[in-house]
Amino acid sequence: MTSLALLSTLVLFVVSTTQVLAQSCPCGYKDSSGNVWREAIVSTFTQDAGALAAVNADWIIAPDLQVQSGTATANIQYTTANVFEYQDALGLKASAYDNSGSVKCAEIFTNRADILYGSFRMQAQVPSVPGVVFGENFIQQLISRRTEDPATPGFFTYISGTQEQDIEFLSSDTNYYQQVHYTNQPGQLSSGDPDPDAAKDIEVPGADFTTFGVHRIDWLPSSTTYSYSGNTDSGTPISSTTTITKNVPTTPSEFIINVWSNGDPTWSQGPPTADAIATLHYANLYFNSTSFSAASFNSACSAAGNVAPCSV
Ligand SMILES: *[C@@H]1O[C@H](CO)[C@@H](O)[C@H](O)[C@H]1NC(C)=O
Repeated sequence: MTSLALLSTLVLFVVSTTQVLAQSCPCGYKDSSGNVWREAIVSTFTQDAGALAAVNADWIIAPDLQVQSGTATANIQYTTANVFEYQDALGLKASAYDNSGSVKCAEIFTNRADILYGSFRMQAQVPSVPGVVFGENFIQQLISRRTEDPATPGFFTYISGTQEQDIEFLSSDTNYYQQVHYTNQPGQLSSGDPDPDAAKDIEVPGADFTTFGVHRIDWLPSSTTYSYSGNTDSGTPISSTTTITKNVPTTPSEFIINVWSNGDPTWSQGPPTADAIATLHYANLYFNSTSFSAASFNSACSAAGNVAPCSV
């Protein structure tokens, strides 16, 4: 199921240190738990320049077909037009199914795959049309990435792996507006049964995920903490925190946000019969990477006069 989300286009990129250092917090970012992170990607989709300008600065919009198997009833066609400016924010859409054999879906992923530990927050509304998965996935290693052969557009090669952290919302869940699935992959035991220590289905009574709330992953070497904070429909603050210490990934990764359906009755269900749209206000990522070392960070911070880290 989530392995479908593992597949994303390999794009070569160069991260320049000057780009990293050009940030306004030369001594990094300190989160509420006291962790310091050296770098940030702050994507404000509500900005005046438009949501797509924020996407284009730090993310890649997936364009590819993912052929499905098993109990899936349709393929996934990631479609650039399904990542769009929507209600002064970013819309990610799985289109109403047209019986063509592929569901038009939406995915963005960071243009960096060197992220190793951090605090990742997304303010979003989940789709309410049944039959899709809205996922915030942390994909480790260069697993299951595909390389598009320039000579044969549309042809991809695959590499497999299993390290992944996922937040998933299934719009076909009866209580989809307050049910979330957190998984440190693999979420199954070798017997095929769900692994309760790695995959947690969490209900947050009183929550309404179809209103804007913050969904967060705090990835540390020994644990992944998944959390939600938002408001009930009557405006009372509500939050929920779940920590998973099993299968915590230890390798550099990229971050992916998507809305997809393959009609699989065991997971996404659907395909949707109407457009299913997730709306994002922001995605703020504070992290360390393998490209910007602690030593380089310390020099930059020192050169800036050891100012206090920014609080995030
Ligand atoms: C992230 O980087 C900061 C600054 O170099 C360091 O203090 C911290 O230990 C790093 N965190 C992790 C989890 O590696």
